[in-house]
Amino acid sequence: MLDQIAQLRAEIDRADLHTREQVDAFRNQFLARKGRIADLFDGLREVPAADRRAVGAALNELKNAAQARHDARREELDAEPAVATGPAPDFTLPPVPHTLGSRHPLTLVQEQMVAIFQRIGFSVATGPEIEDDWHNFSALNFPPDHPAREMQDTFFLEAEPGQEPKLLRTHTSTVQVRLMETQAPPIRAVMPGRVYRNEAISARAHQLFHQIEGLYVDRNVSFADLKQTILYFLREFFGADVQMRMRPSYFPFTEPSAEVDVSCPICGGPGCNICKYTGWVEVLGCGMVDPEVLRASGIDPEQYSGFAFGIGIERTTMGKFTVKDLRLFTENDVRFLRQFESL
Ligand code: PHE
Repeated sequence: MLDQIAQLRAEIDRADLHTREQVDAFRNQFLARKGRIADLFDGLREVPAADRRAVGAALNELKNAAQARHDARREELDAEPAVATGPAPDFTLPPVPHTLGSRHPLTLVQEQMVAIFQRIGFSVATGPEIEDDWHNFSALNFPPDHPAREMQDTFFLEAEPGQEPKLLRTHTSTVQVRLMETQAPPIRAVMPGRVYRNEAISARAHQLFHQIEGLYVDRNVSFADLKQTILYFLREFFGADVQMRMRPSYFPFTEPSAEVDVSCPICGGPGCNICKYTGWVEVLGCGMVDPEVLRASGIDPEQYSGFAFGIGIERTTMGKFTVKDLRLFTENDVRFLRQFESL
């Protein structure tokens, strides 16, 4: 028995323990419950009683030595940083190309719209998103008790002491006022930008969206000019086959006012869930600039007239590309955004 122990001891001391696999195999072979050291312990029963104590002590020493070797090596291996296995990298291979981002569909559509109006002589104007009551409401002929001023529509900012509160503009018509205050007619401009309304976010409404406003002020500007300008825009944007219809409407800053529908760009007329089975989709509001608005901005309504229109960029983009949920525009999911890459 002592010979067997010495032999096993020699094997244990010689065993290769370079890799984790070897350390595991070592544990299984020698230290496990059914391993070779345990086998020798089982044989202890047959050892004559007189020798049993000495053999038992030698066995215990063998077991402790094996355990100590195993534990020390395992500890070393655990402390080593993990090393990638597998073939070494081949630095001569061509690199993985960086993927390019794509421009946001709303940016692309806005640029398309601006370009369409630039072709007929409109310039581009912008204005601040933080506005005062005058440019967002009063100069645009909103009566003091108009519901659009109420808290549920407008985000008001905390007022500086002694000053009236500023607000986030609820439409780009603010830029209309700023232009008329600073420029003499003729004025012919489109005004794209972000607008804010305090609404519950849903598939069809958001607190942040985009509009492009148009304004034309000159002598003898008529409703016919407005209608032809809108028709030109819709044909350029949706295609030559598009049909339009005007419905009488109301805006405080235009008189008369109209809302414009286009034949549904998805189904072309028979009805689908985008046009709610009416065959028509509303795309913009427009009208002749109210003489009160011209006067408030320092333009003589006896000499000049003008038209204005406001297009919802999200809404037209949704109609043109069958986007069913407005929230997709702000979620930044590349699977959605990439679909517009080729525009
Ligand atoms: N400002 C209006 C809105 O936000 C749109 C509009 C602009 C209507 C210009 C008529 C003329 O709803």
